[in-house]
Formats: sequence, C-alpha cells, structure tokens
Amino acid sequence: MVILVTGGAGYIGSHTCVELLNQGYEIIVIDNFSNSKKESLKRVTDITGKLFKVYNTDILNKDQLNLVFLENKIDSVIHFAGLKAVGESVSIPLRYYYNNVIGTLNLCEVMNKHNVKNLVFSSSATVYGNPKEVPILESSLLGATNPYGRTKQMIEEILKDLYNSDHSWSISLLRYFNPIGAHESGLIGEDPNGIPNNLLPYISQVAVGKLDKLKVFGNDFPTKDGTGVRDYIHVVDLARGHLKALENVSNSTGINAYNLGTGTGYSVLEMIKEFEKASGRNIPYSIVEPRPGDVDKCFANPSKAREDLGWIATKTIEEMCEDTWRWQINNPNGYIENNKIIFTTSDSRLSAETAGFVMSKAE
Ligand code: NAD
Ligand code: WQD
Repeated sequence: MVILVTGGAGYIGSHTCVELLNQGYEIIVIDNFSNSKKESLKRVTDITGKLFKVYNTDILNKDQLNLVFLENKIDSVIHFAGLKAVGESVSIPLRYYYNNVIGTLNLCEVMNKHNVKNLVFSSSATVYGNPKEVPILESSLLGATNPYGRTKQMIEEILKDLYNSDHSWSISLLRYFNPIGAHESGLIGEDPNGIPNNLLPYISQVAVGKLDKLKVFGNDFPTKDGTGVRDYIHVVDLARGHLKALENVSNSTGINAYNLGTGTGYSVLEMIKEFEKASGRNIPYSIVEPRPGDVDKCFANPSKAREDLGWIATKTIEEMCEDTWRWQINNPNGYIENNKIIFTTSDSRLSAETAGFVMSKAE
C-alpha cells in the first residue's frame, strides 16, 4: 500500500511516517518545509532504516500535485499539511484560509482526478470552540473561535459535501486534542519556530534554560486548581491513530469524525509538576492574566475511536513528559539542517541512497 503523506516533515507527520514505515507501508511525502526541516525526514530514515520519496512541493501548486499523482500509484492520503498557529491566524487570516482551505481543495481535486478517494484529514479539537460540556463527544456543537479553527471546520464541511456528492469517497476527520511528547529514540520531536505558543514546548525550553520562566495564563478558572485543563496525548499514540483510521478508510466508504485524546484532563500546574519530575529540573513560573480566547477545560470522550477504529491512547503523562524531555535535551536547538541532504530527481535511486532517502522536486 502506497500512502501519500502531505506535511510529512512536520511534528505529527514525521511521527506518523515512522509508524507507517514500521508497519510496512510505502510512503511518499510532500512538504514545502514552510514549518519544518528536511532533517526530520532524514531522521525518520535513521529510525526506521527505510527509504522513501520526498517531494519539496506546495499543495497550493495543483500542477505539481498532479505530477506527484502521475508519477506514483497512490492508494490513500494522510493530509497534515497546513498552518497551525492560532495567534498568527488572527493576524494573517487570509494566509490561513488560502493555505489550509485552498490547499485542501487542490488536493481533493487532484485525488478525484486520479481516482484516489481514501483520505485521513488532520482536524482539531479546536473545531469545538468553547465546549458546552466535557468530556466532548463528536456530536457536540462545533463553533471554532479563531480563523485557524475555522479553516478546520470549513474543511470538515467541504469534505462532508464531497462525500455527499460521491459516496465512493472514504474520509476520516481526526480531531486531535493536545499532542505532546516525542519518539522514544529522542531523534524526532516538536521543533517550534521562535518562542513556542504551546505549553509543553514552552515548559521544556524553560527546563533546558533557553527561556527564563513560564507564564501561567490565569489561575481563576473553574477547574481543580484554577488553571486550564487539557487532554494531552502522546504524539506516538496519535500517529498510531492515523494507521487505524487508514485501515478503516481503506476498507469502507463514508465520512466520520473521531476524537483522538486520552479522555483525561491535566491542569497547567499538574503539567509543570510532571515535567519537573521527568526532567529533574525546576520550572520557575508566574501567574499572569488569562490568554484571550482560552477555554477552562477541554478533554475528549474518545470512545467512538475505540469502538469504530479499535484505537486507544496507551502512553502515560509520565511517558509524554519523559519523551519530550529526551528530545529537548538531545536537541536543545531543534533540528540543525543537514547539508548532506541533497535533492535528486525522483528516479535517481543511486543518489537517493547516498542521501539516505529520495528527495525529488516536482517541476
Ligand atoms: P507542523 O507545522 O509541524 O506540520 C505541518 C507541515 O505541513 C509542515 O511540515 C509544513 O512545512 C507543511 N505545510 C504547511 N503548508 C504547506 C503547504 N501549503 N504545502 C506543503 N506543505 C505544507 O504541524 P503539526 O503539529 O505536525 O500538525 C499537523 C496537522 O495537524 C496540521 O494540519 C495541524 O493544523 C493539525 N493539528 C495540530 C495540532 C497540534 O497541536 N500540533 C493539533 C490539532 C491539529
Ligand atoms: C494549554 C494550556 C493555556 C502556554 C492549542 C490550539 C489548538 C490545538 C492545540 C491545533 C492552556 C496554558 C499555555 C503558556 C500557559 N492546535 N498555557 N502558558 O490552547 O489548548 O490548544 O494547541 O489544532 O487549536 O489552540 O494549547 O498548549 O497553547 O495551552 O499557561 O505559555 O496551557 O492557557 O490552559 P491549547 P496550549
């Protein structure tokens, strides 16, 4: 089975590539490296010992996408490529709508043209907005509260319309809660650009001494200790959820949304304690004003994924923090670009072997 992975060089994509290769899938990655480095893919090869094709391609370029489908016999697509920073999406909404929505439209059009109709899409718990009640069910009301979240909600609607127009499509909408952690090798992990927006990358950069102290956004929420509660999920569990969804879309038609979370919420203060334990470092923090738009509690009811896909998160909060820390301490500056990674044409297997994997540029 040949799986096209868009955005495969990114945080969740690279972990999913490892799981796919370990399970014997052949993969092809498309990424424009706007928020990732080629080194992450080199490390996927280091972990798995497997080679795969990589196209330095933008999903906004339909002609290039078409070439990728012409050159390869693709069975299914896992679609991670997208911009994901909530704050940035408020400042530059058009870029978010353009990249995420138009990019997905292009992908679906090209898939349709080549009769590839199995799709696993990276949605987000952000589509629920301010949830009326927790744990959140897939049937809960949707109401994203920022442009990024609205791109995900719009794409979900577009994909539902697509399925309604042609019942031979098979689509999984995976609504991730809060992915954290890293591969246990410490070779791949989350490598945010600049100052991290999310809690765990911020805490781990404080622990490693790159940032002075954490700002805890509010301690007056109606939660166990007043700080925000979230459903943190290990990225490897999340990656495995994609393999389960892939099996499901390969064996049936339809469109289904699934919550991928653990079902348990941890507060910011609990996460600080867990990370101190995992790292053996002190995490200085101060309480500041709540961040605008933050919800008090957000955690999943993940039973639909368990019942339909046979997927359940297995990794503990300790493992999530230990693996994040191993990645951080081994790579304090994230991925350093490796100059030895070279671009080859897609049929140049010889140079590809020297590079560690095949890098091609669709032109
Ligand atoms: P990431 O930024 O690490 O990975 C996304 C990848 O897509 C990057 O490698 C980027 O270079 C690539 N990309 C972006 N636009 C592209 C384009 N036009 N053409 C080709 N490649 C493009 O993000 P991630 O954390 O791995 O997230 C993957 C997906 O999951 C995203 O769609 C994101 O919105 C979604 N998601 C992430 C989270 C999270 O907290 N990390 C939570 C819910 C949903
Ligand atoms: C977690 C908790 C903060 C940083 C975001 C996106 C969501 C999804 C996942 C993509 C909250 C608190 C955080 C800090 C803090 N991404 N916090 N100090 O906001 O739940 O979700 O990432 O789809 O769309 O919105 O995650 O990690 O930013 O925050 O106190 O410096 O940590 O207030 O309670 P969030 P987060």
